[in-house]
Amino acid sequence: MPAPKRSAASDRSATRVAVIGAGKIGGILLEGFLEQKLLRAENLCASVRHPDRARELAARLPVSVGTDNRAAARRADVVLVAVKPQTVREVLEEIRPELGPGKLVISVAASVPLASLEKFVGPRVPVVRAMPNTPCLVRRGMIALARGAHATDAHLETAQTLFATVGRTIVVDEKLMDAVTGLSASGPAFIYVILESLAEGGVKVGLPRDVATLLAAQTALGAASVVLETGAHPALLKDAVTTPAGCTIDGLLELEEGRLRVTLIKAVVKAVKRAGELWLEP
Ligand SMILES: NC(=O)c1ccc[n+]([C@@H]2O[C@H](COP(=O)([O-])OP(=O)(O)OC[C@H]3O[C@@H](n4cnc5c(N)ncnc54)[C@H](OP(=O)(O)O)[C@@H]3O)[C@@H](O)[C@H]2O)c1
Repeated sequence: MPAPKRSAASDRSATRVAVIGAGKIGGILLEGFLEQKLLRAENLCASVRHPDRARELAARLPVSVGTDNRAAARRADVVLVAVKPQTVREVLEEIRPELGPGKLVISVAASVPLASLEKFVGPRVPVVRAMPNTPCLVRRGMIALARGAHATDAHLETAQTLFATVGRTIVVDEKLMDAVTGLSASGPAFIYVILESLAEGGVKVGLPRDVATLLAAQTALGAASVVLETGAHPALLKDAVTTPAGCTIDGLLELEEGRLRVTLIKAVVKAVKRAGELWLEP
């Protein structure tokens, strides 16, 4: 725990967390912390830019929401920054007087490197960079974490515990964060296109759209679960579905002709490249 008096092991719910930038991802995280009862509502607060948005959030969630970032940071042990990358510098420099070695700063901003974050927050402030994805909405997210120079094992554990309320966490070296962004943060969009297309296939052969979408989505969920739970290589699992001279091999042939594999590989590579281009320090 960043503040020595509030030991992570002793009482996690006493940790005070401020979410600065409670938009799409910040809001999802807030709801996750509340739903899993990891933190007490009175120990959570949030800030946004627009007062009407603050009022709307405060009416929906049992936490204090305002537009004063410094006040939010002042009362927190962990400051979770979820503003757009181009706003990160402005926000961190604004709250810098409230930060110090006893507070943990977590940034979920895509592309903003730890070196820049550490420069903006000031000397010796522990920082963790995180990359969540939108399935955090249904607590099935994937969140990669990279630790900054002043973040200890306890800080990393704090971040992992927070994000575990909304999905799986993994710790990676920072140099892999753009790769993570292109795969697991952009990935849901790629998967939605695949699901939409499979469902269209179902519609083409006569299934009602809702049935086709259910079959496609539950099949993807099941296949993904098998990969995660068995640890088996996807190619071996595919082979197990593919009966000689059966129907699956005919479908696979179409996928090969349509260059599905190479297209998906290139989609990830392009998204990763773009993630690396997004950050130009203001
Ligand atoms: N969405 C994703 O799938 C995803 C995944 C991983 C990481 N991220 C990262 O998460 C960050 C936020 O993305 P998002 O999609 O959640 O964006 P978003 O919905 O636009 O949320 C941004 C939030 O920041 C607030 N904000 C803007 N300026 C502020 C300021 N000066 N002080 C305090 N709050 C301020 C906005 O307030 P108002 O509501 O009042 O405008 C809004 O609530 C980005 O850096 C992105 O790279 C997003």
